[in-house]
Amino acid sequence: MSAVSQIELPDGRSVWMVTKYALAKKVLSDTTLSNDTSRMGEKAPLAALPASVREVMAKDMLNTDPPKHTRLRQLVAQNFTVRSVQEMRPLANEIADRLLSKVDTSTEVDLVPEYAQPLPTLVLGALIGIPEEDCADVQYWSDTFVSELLLISDKLQASAEWLSQYATELVRRKRLAPGDDLLSRLIAAELDDDELSSMVFVLLIAGQTAASQLIAKAAHLLLTHPDQLAAVRADESLLPGMVDEALRFESPLDVTAFRMTTEPFELDGVTIPVGEIVICSMPAINRDPDRFPDPDTFDIRRMDNAHLSFGFGIHRCLGANLARVETEAAVSALLRRQSSSAITVREDGVRWQPGGIMHLLTSLPVRF
Ligand code: HEM
Repeated sequence: MSAVSQIELPDGRSVWMVTKYALAKKVLSDTTLSNDTSRMGEKAPLAALPASVREVMAKDMLNTDPPKHTRLRQLVAQNFTVRSVQEMRPLANEIADRLLSKVDTSTEVDLVPEYAQPLPTLVLGALIGIPEEDCADVQYWSDTFVSELLLISDKLQASAEWLSQYATELVRRKRLAPGDDLLSRLIAAELDDDELSSMVFVLLIAGQTAASQLIAKAAHLLLTHPDQLAAVRADESLLPGMVDEALRFESPLDVTAFRMTTEPFELDGVTIPVGEIVICSMPAINRDPDRFPDPDTFDIRRMDNAHLSFGFGIHRCLGANLARVETEAAVSALLRRQSSSAITVREDGVRWQPGGIMHLLTSLPVRF
């Protein structure tokens, strides 16, 4: 396959796919490429969604260009710095321990629904100010939305509508009864209601499924690589490197970018015309042998592991530090819970589900 080629997405749209690391970095950092979905018309990744939902999404940071993007991102960026997120580590540890204490370890446990899925939602919920009793619904609908993206489905429409209505309702409730949370602080920072709903919407869809998939995939990788598991058990300072290697080896997202060319775009000898969508293949770029030696080996001690799973450039993942802390907390609690040799995966019960932008690990049955 050529490093830049036209492919057809499951929803029938034709896009340009990039499969080499150096070219992907160029796509993600070139400011002539646009994220502004309101300019993309039928080419927009979400063109099939109801107009009301598209309007909410068109105002979020992921779907805008500077200067709008810069302003929106700056409003929340300080909540996602390494230092701010470190303050959430005790909460992430506490939630991980709480979830594990609830599972019945005398029988088989599916770590995806019991552990990996609720954990990031509960952490994000505490940050944004989502009542705990709403978290299961929020998680269900955002998982549905993300897993159905790029597929033409009623479920995608239903989830988008539920999430955008929930975001609007949460803003309304916080205006009436502010708390000590991110959304209440944003209300005080004078965003209008549409901008607030868009901010909540983008955090809900970006902050859960990818993070829970990282936890599930990291646990699966460790439990199926006993030497790496033993190493991290013996020395927990290897945890951050393990998280990065899990991100590189099994990127939660299969594709990213969805940038539109605003002028003819030269890439590896190919000229992509104006108005075309460019995407990057995560598995290909993160296992590009020209960038990563021995790319198909899962090695938690890998040096120089600058994978692109969190993207690159001005839209680089806002929640990267948070996702790292959540995954470190999740794996560390598992390691504390039982001796590693006592946790075994029932491989014939492991289930994967293809999605539009992710291949999802949906079931990870283990015995303690
Ligand atoms: C953007 C991946 C977790 C919030 C992105 C992008 C990627 C990504 C690849 C860039 C998209 C682009 O360039 O078009 C991931 C992965 C995660 C994760 C793999 C988990 C392992 C989170 C979390 C949050 C979050 C936990 C929030 C709590 C965002 C936001 C953006 C973003 C708001 C848009 C940033 C911008 O446009 O400036 N993410 N993400 N993500 N992510 Fe994440």
